[in-house]
Amino acid sequence: MSAAIQEGHAAASSPKSAAEASSAERRGASPSTILLAPTPQRWFDVAAERWRELLVDHANCEKKAASTALSLIFAYPEDMALTDKLSRLAREELRHFEQVQKLMQELHVPFVRMQPSRYAEGLRSAIHRSEPARLLDLLLCGALIEARSCERFEGLAPKLTDPLRGFYSGLAVSEARHQNLYLRLAEQRAGAIDWRTRLQQLAAIESDLVTSPDEQFRFHSGLPG
Ligand SMILES: [Fe+2]
Ligand SMILES: [Fe+2]
Repeated sequence: MSAAIQEGHAAASSPKSAAEASSAERRGASPSTILLAPTPQRWFDVAAERWRELLVDHANCEKKAASTALSLIFAYPEDMALTDKLSRLAREELRHFEQVQKLMQELHVPFVRMQPSRYAEGLRSAIHRSEPARLLDLLLCGALIEARSCERFEGLAPKLTDPLRGFYSGLAVSEARHQNLYLRLAEQRAGAIDWRTRLQQLAAIESDLVTSPDEQFRFHSGLPG
């Protein structure tokens, strides 16, 4: 989850800029270029106030990130280049989970069960059911989720105090790297599919999920009511 993205300064990407994102990333450009809309400023304001809840949901997000990588390893075991990269990713996400839990203990934030946000399900519903389009969709969604996480960590960190400020700043760098990984894996496996166009389609769904009004407040939720 790295480019500063607060309302008004992470411009929505044009189709062309998103299409160029993968090569841009290899040059070290901002990962936010694949996102079509910035997170509303109100989300950051609410997140700074409700950081305790956010930390609990964050722990869930790290578990889900590891679980997503593991699911791909099980679903595509013959693709050993992919499984090798995603095994490392799963381990890193679990380390993040351990770090979040440690912070919860230090900051006296108890675990509470939460309903998942609409975000993952909203993206999942757009994923093709048949191959090879399915794998491409899964990888592109992974890139978008990591990009959004990066954007939110980077935008939120300056609004918080340490230890969360430093922790979130560090995670923003990790998430940018994860976004690049998923994007590279997608590009390499796209074959005859126009992955740039597909990325645009999924990015449009993703941007709607994080900018439209949302009754829930979560790490990947939409505009807070
Ligand atoms: Fe993570
Ligand atoms: Fe990640």
